[in-house]
Amino acid sequence: MSNDGVNKSRRMILTGLTSTVSAVGVGYAAVPFVKSWVPSAKAKAAGAPVTANIGSIEPGQMITVEWRGKPVYILRRTEEALASLIEGRRYLSDPDSEVEQQPAYVTGDARAIDGHQEYLILVGLCTHLGCAPTFRPEVGAEDLGGDSWLGGFFCPCHGSKFDLSGRVYSGVPAPINLEVPPYRFETDSVIVIGEDQETV
Ligand code: FES
Repeated sequence: MSNDGVNKSRRMILTGLTSTVSAVGVGYAAVPFVKSWVPSAKAKAAGAPVTANIGSIEPGQMITVEWRGKPVYILRRTEEALASLIEGRRYLSDPDSEVEQQPAYVTGDARAIDGHQEYLILVGLCTHLGCAPTFRPEVGAEDLGGDSWLGGFFCPCHGSKFDLSGRVYSGVPAPINLEVPPYRFETDSVIVIGEDQETV
C-alpha cells in the first residue's frame, strides 16, 4: 500500500473512533438529565394524595393522617361546636380567613366544603414555628382563658390558640390561621387529601 493509502486508512479509523466516543459521550450526558427530570418513586409517593375513610369518626372526635410528611387533622364537629364558631369570632385575629390559608371552595366560619360543614380538615402545624397544636375541645378550660375558650387547638410551644376552624386567636405568637389543605369528597365517607374538589 502507498503512503497515501496508509494515511487514508488511518484517517478513516480515527474518524470512526471519534464518532463512537461522541455517541457514547452523548449517551452518558443524557442519563443525568433524564434522571433529574423524572421524579423518583419516593418523590412521587411523598407528593401523592392520601385517601381517608371518615365514616367511623364520631361527632366531637378527631383523627390524624399523614400527607406529604405533615400531620393532617380531620375533625368531625358537633352541632354545638359549629354554633360556637360564630360566637367566638370576636376573639379571633382573622375571623373571615382573609389571609389565604385555604382553597377557594373552603368557605365560611366552618372553613369547610359546602354540604360537609361538620368536617374540618387542617394541616396540623402551627403557623408560628411549626409545632403540632393539640386538640382541646373542653369549652371554658381555665388554662386556656375560661369563658373565651370555646374549644379548639392549643400550641404548647409558645401558647398560640386556634378555634374549632383553625382560626388564630388575637394576641398570640402565631400570625395567621392554620392551613386547610386541598381536599375533596370521593363519597360521603371518603375524602382525598391533596386533590382539589373542582379539578376532578
Ligand atoms: S410554634 Fe406554635 S406558638 Fe410557637
